[in-house]
Amino acid sequence: MTLAAPGPTAKVDFADRLLAWYRRQGRRLPWRENHDPYRIWLAEIMLQQTGVTTVIPYYQRFLERFPNLFALAGASLDEVIALWAGLGYYSRARNLHAAARVLVADHGGRFPAEVEELTRLPGIGRSTAGAICAIAFGKRAPILDGNVRRILSRVYALEAPVKTADSDKRLWIWAEELTPAANVHDYTQAIMDLGATLCTPKNPSCSSCPVSPCCLAFRLGRVAEFPVPAAPKNVPTVRQITLLLEMGGNFLLRKRPYEGFLGGLWEFPNVPLRDGEESTAAARNLLRELGLEGGLHPLGTIRHAYSHFRLAAEVLRGIVFPLADKIGENSREELWFAGDAVASLPLHGAHCKIWQKFHRKGQALW
Ligand code: ADE
Repeated sequence: MTLAAPGPTAKVDFADRLLAWYRRQGRRLPWRENHDPYRIWLAEIMLQQTGVTTVIPYYQRFLERFPNLFALAGASLDEVIALWAGLGYYSRARNLHAAARVLVADHGGRFPAEVEELTRLPGIGRSTAGAICAIAFGKRAPILDGNVRRILSRVYALEAPVKTADSDKRLWIWAEELTPAANVHDYTQAIMDLGATLCTPKNPSCSSCPVSPCCLAFRLGRVAEFPVPAAPKNVPTVRQITLLLEMGGNFLLRKRPYEGFLGGLWEFPNVPLRDGEESTAAARNLLRELGLEGGLHPLGTIRHAYSHFRLAAEVLRGIVFPLADKIGENSREELWFAGDAVASLPLHGAHCKIWQKFHRKGQALW
């Protein structure tokens, strides 16, 4: 069999083959039911760092509560964050809410149909803007998300890691070259499906792949070598003391500031441990800073991985009382909640784990 080399002939072939496959094998997904830019934008933001299966129930709940841009723009940020709780990468929720308000205030509630204008909105980068333009408006605009980077690194046998500045430039050029002028709505979703179902990170299904004849890595028998791995990064571990404090059957929690990491989500009082710092002393200091006293008892350590660090939270519990000289000095940032209410707060992932592990069915496990 003669195999088409990547290049001008492969370009047409690539899109045609992919489109034919998508018509047979494309996935039916909730955001593919119509071309409403609001629904497509919401899906693209949720899918930026989260997989399809996890996103579907969140997407459906979100649309039930906020069926259109105006409903979202009119909601409070707390309500939006509460519906996002568990999806992670919460800046997406804050940006979504901010962008909805800009769209209503400055664009009369309509989405611009241009990549450049879309990228001026919070939370929309070039690839997301391309996806919205292509899927909602049928405009020829390339996308380059993680899946497409992997696919193109194989099709063109890119001999460098995909995240370098130089690779980025090349990948955008290739993504642009391969994007067809017609059927861009289907093409964009087809390439997403190819990355999710066949051109997977491990054990890609090249024997079922519609574009393997256009794939240089496949022709060279070197698919397993691409994408070239990036140099491993050092991910630090942050140790933290977390206190589950109970007074009169209620638990102490606080809301993180909106601006910053996990902004607007709730958590139990905690403090990072410095190198070599002893946990009991740090826990007692934190308790005193909160204006409380009482015995503290270790429950165990909860681990949670973020993209840029790992968290090891050493959890202690205590039945506590106000320090005699602090009675009446209630901090506005901390609030006491009954057990049932804690479960319905938007806790961030690590502290959600803590609550689930150490306090079940309204019954403290101590
Ligand atoms: N990942 C990002 N956007 C997607 C979409 N529209 N369909 C499926 N997976 C996606």
